[in-house]
Order: sequence, then structure tokens, then C-alpha cells
Amino acid sequence: MIEDDYTEFTLMIKKKTGIDLNQYKEAQMKRRLLSLRQKRGFKTFIDYGNEMGKEKALFNEFLDRMTINVSEFYRNPERWDILKEKILPQLLKEKSELNIWSAACSTGEEPYTLAMMMKEAKIKAKILASDIDEGILEQAAKGVYPDRSLKSLPDLWKKKYFIENELGYECTTLVKHAVAFHRHNLLKDPYPKHVDLIVCRNVLIYFTEEAKSRIYKELSDSLSIGGILFVGSTEQIFNPSQYNLESADTFFYRKIE
Ligand SMILES: C[S@@+](CC[C@H](N)C(=O)[O-])C[C@H]1O[C@@H](n2cnc3c(N)ncnc32)[C@H](O)[C@@H]1O
Repeated sequence: MIEDDYTEFTLMIKKKTGIDLNQYKEAQMKRRLLSLRQKRGFKTFIDYGNEMGKEKALFNEFLDRMTINVSEFYRNPERWDILKEKILPQLLKEKSELNIWSAACSTGEEPYTLAMMMKEAKIKAKILASDIDEGILEQAAKGVYPDRSLKSLPDLWKKKYFIENELGYECTTLVKHAVAFHRHNLLKDPYPKHVDLIVCRNVLIYFTEEAKSRIYKELSDSLSIGGILFVGSTEQIFNPSQYNLESADTFFYRKIE
């Protein structure tokens, strides 16, 4: 039966990778994986999963499809402007150096945007960036992007922090060295502590309500009191006080106790 086939597949993936597909919205995830499975000519998810165990390229392709790695520098510019003009000055009233975590950072556009912002404002900061997908983190560390990824970035930053070469736009060493990349599964791994600013955007939309709620709690526990959680532009938190958070601006939440 189709139902059992997919369930069996999710168990195989969990055993092999620790990734629990059941915590992602099922209809969406199944649709994405089914089209890939069919494209590769497998009749069942079990056959597909078995072959994936033998063929790394097939597994990497699956990982690529399930994670959705779309990102952009300075994505939703008006929100980044609020971060720069309102949120950072508030954070800096309490501290002179910030601990920043860009969670589910994909190919690195978000943590590098943060690095540039810190350089521009001359703010001392440690920036940790993480994602579940190791391949994507390797790509992030290289820091090379097509022009379209930079379309929302202020022009001056583009000139100052990128070198154009035959591969595209490459972040300068100064920017690359400002970010430390580590693999981290939001559903499973221990979260960092005493973080002043967490940027976790455009990933929670993929999870079930239950998984989402657990992640919000963990993100809140990660923050220092007064710390800020910056979420994606479709990811407003309803009733933030249940996670000891209060609204600091649209899509920004402050840790209250
Ligand atoms: C759409 S991208 C968002 C990138 C960036 N935050 C942005 O908003 O531009 C979603 C990212 O979430 C990552 N992801 C998916 N499940 C994850 C998990 N359980 N733990 C950590 N990252 C995860 C994916 O690998 C992907 O890179």
C-alpha cells in the first residue's frame, strides 16, 4: 500500500540520516519527493530509498529536494533595515559585542549579510551559521553567488564586499572569515546558548505545528534575556508569550524572561 511504502521510507531515512521526515508537513513533502522518485524511475519509495543507500548522488539529490535551499542577500530589505536601524541599537544598549546565530542558513546569504552589516556598523560580533545540509554548507563556505542573489543588497556593499570573477560574485575573505559554519539539525541537535540575535527565516513553514512549536521553544531558550529572534516574512508567531517572547517589531521577537 502507498501509505505504508512512504512510512517505511521515512523510517529508512531516519535510521540512515537522523532526519525525521514526519516532522515536516506531509502533503507538501510527499509531493516534492514523489515527483523526484518518478523522475528517477522508481515504482515505490522503498525501492528509491534502497537505491539511495547505495548511490550517493541519488541521496544528495533527495537531500537537495527535501530541504529547499532558496536564499538571497538582504532578503525582504525593509526587515533588514529595521534590524539595522531599530533592533541593533537596542541590543547594543546592553552589550558591546553580539553573539549571533543564523539558523537554517542555506547557502550563506543570510549570515554573510549579517557579517557585512556588522562591518558597516563597526559592531563586534561572533556569527555562527548552521544548516542541516552539509553539501550546502560547503557551498556557503566558498561564498560564490550569481548576480541575482545580490539584487536586494545595497550597491555600496556589493562593491565593497564582493569580487567579481568568472564564477560570479565572491565574498571577500574579510566577510567569509566573519562566519563560522556548522551542521545543525533544528529537530534534533542541542541549541547554542546565550545568543543575542537569532535569524531563523523561511524554514519553519515546512514543519508540522507540533515541530514548529518545539523549535520556537528551543530558539527562545537559546536567547539571552532581551535577545531577539528574527523570523521570515510569512512566519509571524501567534501568541509569542507562550515561548517567553514579546513582539519587538513585525517579525522580530524579544526574549522576556
Ligand atoms: C528556504 S531555505 C532558507 C534560507 C534562509 N534562511 C533564507 O531565509 O533566505 C531553508 C533551509 O532550511 C534548511 N533546513 C531544512 N530542515 C532543517 C532542519 N531540520 N534543521 C536545520 N535546517 C533545516 C534547508 O536545508 C534550507 O537550507
